[in-house]
Amino acid sequence: MRFVILTRGRMVVAGAVVMLGAAAGAAPALAADGPDGLAIAKSNACMGCHAVDRKLVGPSFLQIAGKYKGDVQAPAKLALKVKDGGAGVWGAIPMPAHPRMSDADIRTVVAWVLAGAPSSASAK
Ligand code: HEC
Repeated sequence: MRFVILTRGRMVVAGAVVMLGAAAGAAPALAADGPDGLAIAKSNACMGCHAVDRKLVGPSFLQIAGKYKGDVQAPAKLALKVKDGGAGVWGAIPMPAHPRMSDADIRTVVAWVLAGAPSSASAK
């Protein structure tokens, strides 16, 4: 597991979302910018099973953010879960593996989920 996200030039936007990161009890590296995470979620069909604020096939992204609030292991744990898939945390329905997603994309989308899935399209 590499910390690719740190090398992608996102630190410049970290300041703007520092409050979000703080609210989630997150390290600065977790302060993913919303549009990116949202774009990745949309382009990888995450939104077919997840919505930001209500349960679909999987838990809502806000439920996930709430469950792992303050858990420093969460970014790594959930990145692995998205990549390899799995079940049993929220119920019997499994999440499929996403073997073709890059580690960087997975980290960005997981950080976005843990930050409460902010959307640039709707009012912040
Ligand atoms: C086919 C439906 C489906 C798709 C597509 C899907 N998920 Fe899930 N997701 C689930 C289900 C079901 C769970 C609950 C799994 C469990 O109970 O352990 C879940 C759980 C999660 C969790 C919490 C895992 C945990 O252990 O608490 C995260 C984070 C997550 N999904 C992110 C994503 C992201 C990001 C994508 C897109 C790359 C995605 N999901 C695509 C169905 C899906």
